[in-house]
Amino acid sequence: MADIESLLKEKRTFKPSKEFVKQANWNKRTVAEYRKLGAKNPQRFWAKMAKENVSWFSPWKKVLDWKPPYAKWFVGAKTNVSYNCLDRHLEGENAWRRNKAAIIWEGEPGDLRVLTYAQLHREVCKFANVLKGLGVKKGDRVALYMPMVPELAIAMLACTRIGAPHSIVFGGFSAEALRDRIVDAGAVAVVTADAGWRRGKPLPLKEAVDKSLEGVDCVRNVVVVNRCDLDVQMRPGRDRWWHELMADASPKCPPAKLDAEHPLFILYTSGTTGKPKGILHTTGGYLTHVTTTAKAIFDLKDEDVYWCTADIGWITGHSYVVYGILANGATTLMYEGAPTTPGPDRFWDIIERHGVTIFYTAPTAIRTFIRLGDEHPKSHDLSSLRLLGTVGEPINPEAWMWYHRIIGGRRCPIVDTWWQTETGGIMITPLPGAVDTKPGSGTLPFPGVRPEVLSGEGEPVAPPDGGLLALLGPWPGMLRGIWGDKKRFREVYWSKWKDVYFAGDGAHKDEQGYFWIMGRVDDVMNVSGHRIGTMEVESALVSHAKVAESAVVGRPDEITGTAIVAFVTPRGGTEPGDRLADDLRRHVAREIGALAKPADIRFTDALPKTRSGKIMRRLLRDIAAGKETVGDTSTLEDYTVLARLRGDEE
Ligand code: WT7
Repeated sequence: MADIESLLKEKRTFKPSKEFVKQANWNKRTVAEYRKLGAKNPQRFWAKMAKENVSWFSPWKKVLDWKPPYAKWFVGAKTNVSYNCLDRHLEGENAWRRNKAAIIWEGEPGDLRVLTYAQLHREVCKFANVLKGLGVKKGDRVALYMPMVPELAIAMLACTRIGAPHSIVFGGFSAEALRDRIVDAGAVAVVTADAGWRRGKPLPLKEAVDKSLEGVDCVRNVVVVNRCDLDVQMRPGRDRWWHELMADASPKCPPAKLDAEHPLFILYTSGTTGKPKGILHTTGGYLTHVTTTAKAIFDLKDEDVYWCTADIGWITGHSYVVYGILANGATTLMYEGAPTTPGPDRFWDIIERHGVTIFYTAPTAIRTFIRLGDEHPKSHDLSSLRLLGTVGEPINPEAWMWYHRIIGGRRCPIVDTWWQTETGGIMITPLPGAVDTKPGSGTLPFPGVRPEVLSGEGEPVAPPDGGLLALLGPWPGMLRGIWGDKKRFREVYWSKWKDVYFAGDGAHKDEQGYFWIMGRVDDVMNVSGHRIGTMEVESALVSHAKVAESAVVGRPDEITGTAIVAFVTPRGGTEPGDRLADDLRRHVAREIGALAKPADIRFTDALPKTRSGKIMRRLLRDIAAGKETVGDTSTLEDYTVLARLRGDEE
């Protein structure tokens, strides 16, 4: 029997336009050639990519040293990430890029800053010297707790320039969450800001840093960017203003020649329970992976204005706001604030004013925009867009169709990219000039990576049945471990099967080999002996005209084992009630079968989400079962949602 049953049937297929195909960085021929090479000899494929897309100070002796679960890529080679993102665009035949925009930045209040490659290089060199001046040495960890301002990108690149691994903590995290991460990484310095603009108000950061550092002794220095002109406490001897340090810093700082396996950054990601895991990434393999995928999947050209809406505090921001984009010499747009400030059309306004050509966002954002109404995107000229992307969650086919029609004007390919903090870069994705897309599918593996759908016993599951998503071989951007916890690294990722990576997602393949991600395995519901993924029931609900968003979970049921409970956010202007609930139950039965019919439907105006937009089904499960919430809620975006879902007064 299949590990997870697949009930969703999606038949629509979309071909890239002739115009797109003609100009694509990777056309059908390239892709076919790379797929062949990648299948026959993944190491040769990645070595070719490393040579073509990355600049090295000295070559590797060996492409891969694989002692599961530990991989070393480009053994013995030397490079530097900031060199690849900056210096090489200022020299030789690329020297014309000196005055090209590297970062176009827009603050929430509407202030604008553009940093050319030459300017960004200068700022990065200066801040690298600031760090050195504070005693930060190669190998020392630096925590960055910052708003989405250019100084964040500058600080990251400065860290990479001197070989000090950064640990970015998303600015929405609390002082406690920050402290745990600072202590776990043993950071010697923290870079922060007084605050950042969020929904029309300064969101204080320095205050949280002060609190987080009480009783912590590893941190010797705190550097503070003045973003909002707030009054902040500066502790003498420890705290210094960014602008004061930068005023005296030398703009000359040669990039450190770092080993390909030198630690590049730690990024904490929450597990289902317990303390967050510090995912470790290193230099050469990661850089090869993100540079190659960005060029191929986002089809980056020198004329593009590329905008990824993710905060740099998440892996998406690391890999595809900063490193992968700048390493290609492209222009990356950075926006500081909330998507609906000052109005619900802020994103579309940004796209129109800056002529954004490539737009990469998350399904949760897309569903929010659907709920806000089509009039907002329709009131802007979005014709500059030529390519769209999504990441972070499975996208419901109906949300995909909306994105395709309303944002993409039916002309833009959509790249639905599956990957994880742990994978470093994109793993399953359409190549926009070479792969036909199907709404809701991440389509095919990137060349040189080997995802597979396996049973619990490690047997490949034949299409179209569902199973567990696995990665069969090492890949260059893969995590090199969990910071300070070898045992947990093995247990979480490498103990399900021998020498095979367990991704934690359910998936199935169709007859064409297309992958369909069915959500986290922890969320799978077992109804009358059938294992059903949450994603498919949610998609069926969202395909109803009156539903904006939904999350389904199982609750214990005497008869069926598990009963499906659906939390549903209706579209604007819809009256929730028993009539709609009945209608939705019938709709699900029609779309995917009576088996998946929710026993309860609960209407709500909001769902509990993590700060990166993932629905926290664990909390909904407790609510559905009428239990107290246990476990970690520190990653929850809006605490009041829980109280409202329980029907408590706030
Ligand atoms: C988990 C990883 C990778 C950057 C953002 C999230 C889910 C991610 C997709 C997609 C279906 C997706 C998976 C994965 N996910 N992209 N295109 N289709 N699911 O990084 O926080 O490490 O989360 O996000 O469940 O395992 P992350």
